[in-house]
Amino acid sequence: MKIDGVAAIVTGGGSGLGAATAKLLAARGAKVAILDRDPVAGERVATETGALFAECDVTCEASVKTALDAAEARHGTARILVNCAGISDLIKTVDDSRMPHSLDAFRRIIDINLVGTFNTLSQFAARLCAADPIGEERGVIVNTSSIAAFDGIAGQAAYSASKNAIAGMSLPIARDLAPHRIRIVAIAPGTFLSPMVEALPQQYRDALAAAVPHPSRLGRLEEFAEFVETIIASPMINGTCIRLDGAARLQ
Ligand SMILES: NC(=O)c1ccc[n+]([C@@H]2O[C@H](COP(=O)([O-])OP(=O)(O)OC[C@H]3O[C@@H](n4cnc5c(N)ncnc54)[C@H](O)[C@@H]3O)[C@@H](O)[C@H]2O)c1
Repeated sequence: MKIDGVAAIVTGGGSGLGAATAKLLAARGAKVAILDRDPVAGERVATETGALFAECDVTCEASVKTALDAAEARHGTARILVNCAGISDLIKTVDDSRMPHSLDAFRRIIDINLVGTFNTLSQFAARLCAADPIGEERGVIVNTSSIAAFDGIAGQAAYSASKNAIAGMSLPIARDLAPHRIRIVAIAPGTFLSPMVEALPQQYRDALAAAVPHPSRLGRLEEFAEFVETIIASPMINGTCIRLDGAARLQ
């Protein structure tokens, strides 16, 4: 799928991996719409890149519909969707005071990371089905999983479950959308230098970097965006989840 001149949606585009992706896609000529629940961050990236910003809570069907309507009115039918909206937390299944994990907290992570991802991709795909194909395809969806999907650390029960489900739904959704010539791929990043990771003490960041076999450092946000670009450009990558982690395995 070409990027130049194509309408693209980036959820979570106000920060971190999503912001880097919005910037790269805009630089390659895409008409980008950033969907984020944080209007200050979203507007800032939109101003920097010439993108459209639409305030949106990915967990809410009506909110996603309104944001996609605004993007479509400005840019036409979107052919690229990159889902980066997400949250993480560290909560043990049973804490040191023998209290069970808050069910509300568990549901919130699943709701934003998993249900939110599915909500945007299903509405995006439904709109795209009506558009003419360009060559052999109509468009592509890139979701953000995590290496915690496969080797989550203590406290990541909800986060790992949400990210494993994002990886696991890639194949059935690819099969669902194959007749419509829409691809779907999940990326499972290791630790990347997003604002959250930048805020950690240097000592902790050094330890995280040292745990990556090669290259022994944290990922750069642009490297995630460049991998999204590779996936968009490569028609045979479909229905899978690909680790982007320098061979890191969480301990
Ligand atoms: N940074 C990493 O090392 C890393 C590693 C693996 C996976 N990930 C995943 O990548 C994604 C992006 O991570 P990041 O580090 O860039 O995080 P980030 O916090 O910098 O950005 C996340 C963005 O999502 C938005 N968001 C959160 N909830 C939302 C909602 N309900 N509706 C709309 N927008 C919402 C936030 O406002 C924010 O702008 C997340 O799903 C995260 O789990 C990150």
